[in-house]
Amino acid sequence: MCGIIGYVGPLGAVGIVLSGLQRMEYRGYDSAGLAMLDSADGALKRVRVSGKIPDLQRAVEQELPEPVAGRCHIGIGHTRWATHGAPTVSNAHPHLSRNGRIAIVHNGIIENYLPLKQRLIGKGYRFESETDSEVLAHLIEECYDGDLHRAVAMALEMVEGTYGIAVVSSQHPDVIVAARKGSPIALGVGNGENIVASDVSAIVNYTTRVIYLDDEDIATITPAGVQISSLKNVPVNRELRHVDWQPGELEKGGFEHFMLKEIHEQPEALANAIRGRLLEKDGTTRLSGVQMEPADYARVSRIIIAACGTSYFAGMVGKYHFESLADLPTEVEQAAEFRYRNPIIERDSCLLAVSQSGETADTIEAVREARRKGANVLGICNVVGSTIARETGRGVYLHAGPEISVASTKAFSCQVVVLAMLAIAFGRARRMSAGVGRDLVAGLARVPQLAEAVLRQTDHIRQVAEKYADAEHCFYLGRGYMYPVALEGALKLKEISYIHAEGYHAAELKHGPIALLDETVPVVAVVPDVHGRSKTVNNMQECRARKSPVIAIATEGDDEVDQFADDIIRVPPCPDFLAPVPVVVAEQLLAYYIARKRGCPIDQPRNLAKSVTVE
Ligand code: G6P
Repeated sequence: MCGIIGYVGPLGAVGIVLSGLQRMEYRGYDSAGLAMLDSADGALKRVRVSGKIPDLQRAVEQELPEPVAGRCHIGIGHTRWATHGAPTVSNAHPHLSRNGRIAIVHNGIIENYLPLKQRLIGKGYRFESETDSEVLAHLIEECYDGDLHRAVAMALEMVEGTYGIAVVSSQHPDVIVAARKGSPIALGVGNGENIVASDVSAIVNYTTRVIYLDDEDIATITPAGVQISSLKNVPVNRELRHVDWQPGELEKGGFEHFMLKEIHEQPEALANAIRGRLLEKDGTTRLSGVQMEPADYARVSRIIIAACGTSYFAGMVGKYHFESLADLPTEVEQAAEFRYRNPIIERDSCLLAVSQSGETADTIEAVREARRKGANVLGICNVVGSTIARETGRGVYLHAGPEISVASTKAFSCQVVVLAMLAIAFGRARRMSAGVGRDLVAGLARVPQLAEAVLRQTDHIRQVAEKYADAEHCFYLGRGYMYPVALEGALKLKEISYIHAEGYHAAELKHGPIALLDETVPVVAVVPDVHGRSKTVNNMQECRARKSPVIAIATEGDDEVDQFADDIIRVPPCPDFLAPVPVVVAEQLLAYYIARKRGCPIDQPRNLAKSVTVE
């Protein structure tokens, strides 16, 4: 979603802000802009476009030609994903205050912007955009009496909603003020220069020393340093952390798209996810971040998993893990629903918040609600230091490395494996024997090879994909462990190829969707050799009988499916609980090559955002 970047220091701010915006492109956006302070005339210069970063770059070359750009050593920039108002130039950030002396960029939603706007209009302020964000620029001007930090704090006290914000003013040529509530802000700490961003990927090229703001923190950032206080002006100390992402990890590394690179990174990501966590002799797992002893595991009587999107489907796989491996009743909740119901959370419930980014607004709120109700809450996140990781303080990192492509791939397979490791830890503290635990752990040790075996068939999967690239509708069917995997396969296809794809429980086919099948509607039958396979094979025949072409994802050597499938993608044999991994790799490649054949913008599909930081 929206991205914020700001720089203050001796270097040229234009180039740094533009490259920061480029690094956040993956989050999804539809317009962009920047505001720079020209040291020659002390005025704020703003450039905005409805479009992408190369468009902004071209506009900057025209509107801020050298030597102007070279004279700017402080500035802020933004990529906007439209919520209030269309993705037009006038709605793009930064927004300027009435006197043109204050520029702001904002992520989040100001919920009470309408009454604030009415009040400001009454005082003679003119609004040039339809956004909620513009009120902030005018409010700050209204509160300003020579102290920018205080003016921003006062303005923020008046707003309801969420914000990550960065502010510059021509009256303070070496100060950026940044603040957060519900929308992440990180400060990159350099030597004689500092950066502010909503996403560490925009920072790691310059420094790996990062401070994350907490909710209602406000920071004054100058070349010399960073001072953080509460909105009430009480100084606070926030930990300086080292981010272990290497800048190279954020490049495509020779792949045509980040998505393809991330699909291919899965053997390594999975190896990192299990490294040091498998205790083969004891037949269990060690997840030190959860900070639970066997007795703590044994006390839990119910698992609740809250997540969104792909993480939700990984959570559904987790339900099968916890029920079959740990005998634990498990519910999986769409985080957005969880926060607005009255979820029944008993004292011995454990809530798992599953989120790649750790910044999804609904999942964060589910965590907060569960904590208010006294639940034991663990975060299963990929991004180290993210809001969910910090607010839960306990959990398991995926260690999958940065995921840039909007469509999630390696995070899903690592989530499946991390949830399996957690289920084994719970199971061993309950009824699982050492022998069963040892078999499961031995299986887990081989999981990187399972992904690798599917990647070796990339050419074959591409050929299959290209045959079906013209489809307009598609079904994915599975049952048992393969039910959530079918849902995830369909999600991948619709996200990146724009083909209307539906995942269904194979048994539900007859309760409606079968009416839609004909020779133009391919069906992906997810039928590896796991519990429930033979019943789904029967459903393949039903699809065939309605003339639908059938693509089977089946286990090597399972020749029985051949007669009912038009095309077959093979996955290696493995225990049921690990089958989601090779199968999802096959689905990801299938979706990728279909989208590629259709010429879709794979890494940044239309209307989608990597991290949904608003409700
Ligand atoms: C967005 C992304 C999805 C992701 C979902 C949840 O919709 O486009 O790929 O699965 O958010 O994100 P999270 O970071 O919480 O896993």
